[in-house]
Amino acid sequence: MERTKKMTLLAPFLLCFFIQMTSCSTDYISQKTQNLMKSHPLIDGHNDLALQLRRLYRNKLSKINLRTINTTRTNLHKLKTGHVGAQFWSAYVLCGAQDKDAVRLALEQIDVIKRMCNEYEELEFVTSSQGIQNTTKIACLIGLEGGHIIDSSLAALRMFYDLGARYMTLTHTCNTPWAQTSGGGPHKVYQETKGLTEFGKEVVKEMNRIGMIIDLSHTSFNTSREVLAISQAPVIFSHSAAYALCGIERNVPNDILIKIKENNGMVMVNFHTAFIACGKTANISTLADHFNYIKKIIGPEYIGFGGDYDGVTGFPEGLEDVSKYPLLVEELLRRGWQDFEIKAILRENFLRVFSKVEQVSDKVVPLLLNIKYVQEGKSVFFCIIFCVLCIVIKEFPKMYF
Ligand SMILES: *[C@@H]1O[C@H](CO)[C@@H](O)[C@H](O)[C@H]1NC(C)=O
Ligand SMILES: *[C@@H]1O[C@H](CO)[C@@H](O)[C@H](O)[C@H]1NC(C)=O
Ligand SMILES: *[C@@H]1O[C@H](CO)[C@@H](O)[C@H](O)[C@H]1NC(C)=O
Ligand SMILES: *[C@@H]1O[C@H](CO)[C@@H](O)[C@H](O)[C@H]1NC(C)=O
Repeated sequence: MERTKKMTLLAPFLLCFFIQMTSCSTDYISQKTQNLMKSHPLIDGHNDLALQLRRLYRNKLSKINLRTINTTRTNLHKLKTGHVGAQFWSAYVLCGAQDKDAVRLALEQIDVIKRMCNEYEELEFVTSSQGIQNTTKIACLIGLEGGHIIDSSLAALRMFYDLGARYMTLTHTCNTPWAQTSGGGPHKVYQETKGLTEFGKEVVKEMNRIGMIIDLSHTSFNTSREVLAISQAPVIFSHSAAYALCGIERNVPNDILIKIKENNGMVMVNFHTAFIACGKTANISTLADHFNYIKKIIGPEYIGFGGDYDGVTGFPEGLEDVSKYPLLVEELLRRGWQDFEIKAILRENFLRVFSKVEQVSDKVVPLLLNIKYVQEGKSVFFCIIFCVLCIVIKEFPKMYF
């Protein structure tokens, strides 16, 4: 009798102890990760597989099997294991092609991405936030990497949108005539460009108007600040980390993080060792530090993933390819991230940004005077003034004589 009573009293404590034990165990964390990522498949902001397809196979898809290819860090089986639900494939064009064949090279990269997404039943090409939400496959999206791709032509920008591109990184490692890069590259061109020029502002307005997401990775801090001061829509960093933890110009300093929060945009965190550890060795924990840091400064609503797989060579120990995303999520859970915060960074934050960009685009009235065909767009305005003057001069005598 006495004994049973003691047991009854002890039971709740034992139960608590048991729950505590299991909730700390690796199995529990990994099961929880699987469940979270199944219900909220990850959206990644930057993958350079298309660059590797050009470099290694001259875009000849018939020569390879994307399900199992192992010369790259990305293949379809690994994407599935990694619970990737949507991927921005980068249509990257090297800076050396600026003012030469950048437009053609971008078209060829868009072509290979579209063929890849149409040929494999695991993939579906989408162009809207609703498209990402509707599909049960891995959603394919296109990001243009490098403003030099539009060759200073708003008409080219609009046609790239029509082909399905949904973000553009304003610069790569070279200045364009209208936006300053964070620099470093061997292509020292347009040295006189500082921040965003007047035409650069027109590019931003046009991107807002047509619903193309503005990507600030690779741009100079001044360019980022000037874009954030005028963009009507949220903007992203598609593959950058926290400057406070690794002080290189490819990362985002605190004042810009705060502006990103005010803008309702997001930073999709880059996994590249050189960006997260500044030359030191890196593991999952090093990368989790960047997620924790940005969360501390601006909260979890403005964070996402921008793996940069197949764009760079160094990745943290344990995160060597696209199948490894769940291990990072496990680490964040171990650090006390709540389920709703994980769901936000996996998927919801990006969907918020994208649908807001779409809404801003719908709201902006397509005024004729807003549509500038080339950099020297003022000619359209003067044409209209001239026509009005002609009519007045022609009609004026009739009214009085
Ligand atoms: C990579 O794939 C090739 C051909 O499909 C295969 O022969 C090779 O063993 C694979 N290598 C690894 C490391 O899995
Ligand atoms: C998404 O699904 C809804 C409901 O089936 C459909 O009305 C809509 O057209 C779809 N949109 C896209 C972009 O797939
Ligand atoms: C950034 O802009 C400020 C203000 O216009 C200017 O003083 C500064 O030199 C610029 N920095 C760079 C690196 O261009
Ligand atoms: C990562 O590396 C640090 C030392 O650089 C070490 O203390 C830590 O245990 C490692 N973490 C993981 C998750 O491997």
